[in-house]
Amino acid sequence: MNPEFADELRKKISEVTAHYPKKEAALLPVLHLAQKEFGYISPEVEKEVAALLEISPMKVREVLTFYTMFNRKTVGKYHIQICSNLSCILAGGDTLLDYLREKLQIQLGETTADGRFTLSAVECLGACEQAPCMMVNFDYFGHLDQNKIDQILEELD
Ligand code: FES
Repeated sequence: MNPEFADELRKKISEVTAHYPKKEAALLPVLHLAQKEFGYISPEVEKEVAALLEISPMKVREVLTFYTMFNRKTVGKYHIQICSNLSCILAGGDTLLDYLREKLQIQLGETTADGRFTLSAVECLGACEQAPCMMVNFDYFGHLDQNKIDQILEELD
């Protein structure tokens, strides 16, 4: 067993899996727990999750690469996820993505040198009526424009 997996996390995983008829069915909540603990899901954590749930590491990889909410490498203190789906693009989301790239001086998937911001493009955030949208960590922001983005980033500590 991987020493990175603290006893407390193992205990939480046990509690979660107990709610499901098969351990495998708890994969998504277990990945959320692991990401909360480590900040991202490393290949080592993938293997450990697979072992704990008695499934193949490939199954864990399939889920990780399907859902954009899981980080596969470290992210900054603030993870900006801008929607790159149709409603948001039609409302100017692509222009805002370019604005964020320029403002933060990073490309998609990169983190600013000070470790504050990571920029990602994600699929529909389920808030199309507020397009264009983004999330910063777990907070949603909609009806965005450049001024609103400036204000949101300035208000972060
Ligand atoms: Fe952006 Fe749905 S397309 S929130």
